[in-house]
Amino acid sequence: MTVEEIVGPATRMVFHSPMSEERANRIAADLAATRPATVADYACGWGELLLRVLALAPAARGYGVDLSGRDLARGRANAAARGLGDRVEFVEGPARENARTADVVISSGAWQAFGRNVTRALEALRPLVNPGGRLFFGVEHWETVPPPERLAEMWPGTTAESYELLADLADHAVAAGFRPLRIESSTRPEWDDYESLETMDAEEWLLAEPDHPDAAAVRDRLDGKRSIWLRGHRDYFGFTMLTLGVPG
Ligand SMILES: C[S@@+](CC[C@H](N)C(=O)[O-])C[C@H]1O[C@@H](n2cnc3c(N)ncnc32)[C@H](O)[C@@H]1O
Repeated sequence: MTVEEIVGPATRMVFHSPMSEERANRIAADLAATRPATVADYACGWGELLLRVLALAPAARGYGVDLSGRDLARGRANAAARGLGDRVEFVEGPARENARTADVVISSGAWQAFGRNVTRALEALRPLVNPGGRLFFGVEHWETVPPPERLAEMWPGTTAESYELLADLADHAVAAGFRPLRIESSTRPEWDDYESLETMDAEEWLLAEPDHPDAAAVRDRLDGKRSIWLRGHRDYFGFTMLTLGVPG
């Protein structure tokens, strides 16, 4: 087992984004209410939001793309367990090269799959949304621009320019041809869950295997990640969820 395999799976997380189930269920209901025939989730991970939309839109067919075969296998198993297996296709590969149009398009926590910045990603996603359709776009941003001493505690190379303010992201969506139907951002409890649940499997493994040859490397990885969160980005880093419409 590699350190990546120990730290990676995050089976405690429901979504691989800082999003509560309550919020996700409401978003899924709003997207399903548009009565989509097709729903596509790009960089879907295990496709939890996609599956929740499909469950509420019985006529819809789903399509999810991700680079991670492990996460896609989890999505396929969840789909089968919920009786959705015959309405969803999960494809392993780069999102952009496997993109097709849909009535509802989801891109959550992975705009990088579509461009070198958020503006380019929104421009690339716009033609994928059928007339009258929706884009659900989840994207990180600065709540307020962090001071240098906090930037220095974040991921190596993070600068004030690494992310944008929410108002500017919303403007980019409008400039790309969308109208913002709903703008919402993750709360502190959603972030706390995201950070804690992402590492809980590995923390429990470490408790069970303190003398394993990989234990020191796993401990270093977890301690570094926790420091980046608590000393670095906590309260500065935001995640916004934009429900965007296009003209019919
Ligand atoms: C933070 S996770 C978000 C997953 C999912 N959208 C969710 O909210 O649960 C980012 C995902 O993007 C995927 N990813 C990154 N680059 C990609 C690309 N070029 N094409 C497809 N998937 C990609 C990763 O494998 C990972 O599953």
